[in-house]
Amino acid sequence: GEVTRSYDPAYMNTVACISKISYIDGDKGILEYRGIPIAQLAEKSSFLETAFLVIFGELPNPKQLKTFTKKVMTHSSYHDGLEKFISAFRHDSHPMGMMSTLMAAMSTFYPEANPAYVGANIYKDKKERNKHIYRILGSAPAIAAACYRHKLGLPLNKPNENLGYVENFLFMMDKHVTDTDYKPHPSITKALEILFILHAEHELNCSTAAIRHMSSSQSDIYTSLAGAITALYGPRHGGANEAVLRMLEQIGSKDKIPQFIQDVKDRKKLLMGFGHRVYKNYDPRAVIVKRTAEEVFSIVGKEPMIEIAMELERIALSDEYFIKRKLYPNVDFYSGVIYKALGIPTEFFTVLFTLPRIAGWLAHWYEFLDDPVNNIVRPRQIYKGYTKRDYVPMDQRK
Ligand code: SDX
Repeated sequence: GEVTRSYDPAYMNTVACISKISYIDGDKGILEYRGIPIAQLAEKSSFLETAFLVIFGELPNPKQLKTFTKKVMTHSSYHDGLEKFISAFRHDSHPMGMMSTLMAAMSTFYPEANPAYVGANIYKDKKERNKHIYRILGSAPAIAAACYRHKLGLPLNKPNENLGYVENFLFMMDKHVTDTDYKPHPSITKALEILFILHAEHELNCSTAAIRHMSSSQSDIYTSLAGAITALYGPRHGGANEAVLRMLEQIGSKDKIPQFIQDVKDRKKLLMGFGHRVYKNYDPRAVIVKRTAEEVFSIVGKEPMIEIAMELERIALSDEYFIKRKLYPNVDFYSGVIYKALGIPTEFFTVLFTLPRIAGWLAHWYEFLDDPVNNIVRPRQIYKGYTKRDYVPMDQRK
């Protein structure tokens, strides 16, 4: 007879890999990249420096950072062949679908990256690996900006290699820019650097686990990244920053919050941007994002939705339903109001999660390649199905 199929929570907490990249303490709300607390990196580092740390394991010295920056920025455009893919997208295409497609398309332009063609040892040579790291990190912002401008029906802003990594992204995204010596407001650049640092890496989250799975079968790094982007797209994961803004706009005003909270308690809705598989305390990134929001608003003006977000947080943090379930704001709760204040369309918010998280995904791929075990990732299951039984001929079925 059929064994009752029950959900066994134990399997959700299996250890799926050993890593040295980032450390999270969910109860204490701690996040460290290669041992360095996220608050120190947000305050003192840049995104490219943090990407170097996360991928290669140490903070770069001045020469290393200069070389890394130069190699990444020389790739700050993308293969011409992608233009045909971009022009084929409808103007209402979701940019996360575009990004995943274009990353997979990149794999077709670089067969030398594909173990299926050139053998599994290609990545043993770190020079070979690093070539793809520079190209992926460098071209991703240009690809994202190209998607944005295609959807607006605007010509592309060719990358400006004289700008910094985040500056150049803002330059390519700016729909009003005309002259090439345009520079975004330094405080806006700093705010986005901080957001990119906060989103760069986060242990074995859903999309990072996905890339470990895919690259373990020796799929090439471009196609594996396309899968990670797909995993991040979901509203329970990176797509939450977009879902938070839609939730705030649906609530519309503070006086509608009590009804919304009741809907959550009645399990009709989720409080998007709240809760976390690991953090059962305040997400340390959310604290910094919230502070960054205030700095951005002082320059570009306050985004009205922040009022609803802060009132929602105030009510939820004092409500037994949320306290009992250890539900706190996560990294996605306040990031969307910043992106909205910067004029970025809601559907692009998860793209701004994707760009920095590429550094974390690359770091896990890099670490996996050096793992002495380096086996295909193949978790086992807990079988709760039928015990052995015979085939039933059609004329004997009910
Ligand atoms: C990210 O893993 C990572 O590291 C991810 C990430 C990263 O950097 O990569 O941090 C980025 O994905 C952050 C999470 C973004 N997602 C959202 O904000 C979507 C809303 N959150 C929920 O979908 C949920 O909290 C999850 C998916 C994030 C976590 O789900 P869990 O682990 O199942 O939540 P839980 O076990 O802690 O839930 C405990 C209780 C349950 O209620 P009961 O059945 O016990 O009565 O809390 C409830 C849940 O139903 N609950 C919520 C809720 N999240 C959990 N109720 C209302 N609103 C929510 N958001």
